[in-house]
Amino acid sequence: MPHDFHRRRLLKAFGAGAAAALLAPFHQAFAAAPRNLLADPRFDVDPFQLGVASGEPAADGFVLWTRLAPQPLEQGGGMVMRPMAVAWEVAEDEGFRRVLRRGSALARPELGHSVHVEVDGLPPGRPWWYRFRVGDATSPVGRGATLPDAGARVDRVRFAVAGCQHYEEGHYTAWRRIAEEPLDFVFHYGDYIYEGPDNGPGERRVNGRPFVPLRRHVGGEIYSLDDYRRRYALYRGDRDLQAAHAAAPWFVSFDDHEIDNNWAADRDQDGTPPELFLLRRAAGFQAFYEHMPLRRRSLPTPQGHMRMYRRAAWGDLLTTHFLDTRQYRSDQINGDRDGPLGEAALAPERTMLGAQQEAWLHEGLRPDGQCWHAIAQQVGLANLAMRHRDSGEIIHSTDQWGGYLAARRRLLGRIREAGMTNVVTVSGDAHRHFASDLVHNSGEGAPVSCEFLATSVTSGSDGIGEDDDFHRNTRSLNPQLKAMTDKRGYVLCDVTRDAWRGDLKVLDRVMVPDAPVRTFASFVVEPGRPGLQAA
Ligand SMILES: [Fe+2]
Repeated sequence: MPHDFHRRRLLKAFGAGAAAALLAPFHQAFAAAPRNLLADPRFDVDPFQLGVASGEPAADGFVLWTRLAPQPLEQGGGMVMRPMAVAWEVAEDEGFRRVLRRGSALARPELGHSVHVEVDGLPPGRPWWYRFRVGDATSPVGRGATLPDAGARVDRVRFAVAGCQHYEEGHYTAWRRIAEEPLDFVFHYGDYIYEGPDNGPGERRVNGRPFVPLRRHVGGEIYSLDDYRRRYALYRGDRDLQAAHAAAPWFVSFDDHEIDNNWAADRDQDGTPPELFLLRRAAGFQAFYEHMPLRRRSLPTPQGHMRMYRRAAWGDLLTTHFLDTRQYRSDQINGDRDGPLGEAALAPERTMLGAQQEAWLHEGLRPDGQCWHAIAQQVGLANLAMRHRDSGEIIHSTDQWGGYLAARRRLLGRIREAGMTNVVTVSGDAHRHFASDLVHNSGEGAPVSCEFLATSVTSGSDGIGEDDDFHRNTRSLNPQLKAMTDKRGYVLCDVTRDAWRGDLKVLDRVMVPDAPVRTFASFVVEPGRPGLQAA
């Protein structure tokens, strides 16, 4: 059907103020028009400056996201503080000649005028195009996708793993390159924002090296809901990031910096009383929900909980288990500092996932006919040994799975005891690429699985590649570590029935725009043979 026809129809609906008709297709909770609905909004400035996104695909639909914010960094995003209806449509083609689903959703001030539409009723296993309209403004077009039917034969899935995108430390060229890849989905492992203040224009140190920020945060460290909203709006204004969101469906996780560095359940790193930290966490959770293409099941509860662990399957090829390693974990040992792993790390009562999520994950890790299982999570499972810069002592990160050794052994033990030879893990957080075999106890035994730990999009800025003592020491201490580098980039996974190929993609510069991407190293895994092999 012609585009003009839809446009006229939508405008007519808006003009008539037919709120009930507009709202009918959306979620039951919005079935009744609010009394304070702004029926005919008009914008002097584009309200879609934060872009569009899709996420959480299923076989019959996915989430569509946008947020109205004509003045993204101003209070309320420059919006009139009333709910307004936003029209959406999903088409078979980029030109919107065949629109299969359309409806209207409420952008409410309670949720920062964000819009989350759960589209259903679509045929499986194909791309879709979507856009929004409010008043006389039309959004950019995004590309979503439905998953193949459960059990359908699928021969290939390609996805990117990325995260850690400190705004001040580089251009988001990695996101531009991801947008240019033909991908089925993107997994964002976390550190979508960083909570720290604007430190001013002068030189400071990043990873021990002098650094002048490429661009700057606005305001001080963020605590309130408005602070977090403004930080997301700042990051989300980036065109490269917007391009990646518009190009493919995403599955997102939060790690620590969405709230505060190295938080664990109800604890921050500064000793703040838990009941106060939970207020900050609730503000951070709400802003995260508002800015991500998440399903309603992930809406923060009044108790401040957010359901983030879930699964998705690509036919008979791949099941992915997306984890939440922050919300249920025990507090870090050793005061959050890297250190030797003693008895404390092995205490069986210490948990990384919480009892419920751990049982859910272990239940899902069973030979079930799927070619591959992926564990998509936030922090390194490899438990790499490092040498202390001054004392020479062997130390480990206590924020990663190494600080939760009993939980790590339970997970790898489950994979081994279930006889699964087809599990690959993807993660991030370390601001370097690390490709490792995963052995049950570090330094001994055959690989049980392997890990592609993706480097950062920008955090750490240009990086120093392989030329430092940390690199040399870590390589020599960890025979299971097959490749590492301190450069920015992402991991590209190309999954077929015979092999899982992981490419460690790097950009040599992020302090200059539009750098080319190259492949630093590639590995393959075969479904019957855990462990990385040179590609
Ligand atoms: Fe990070």
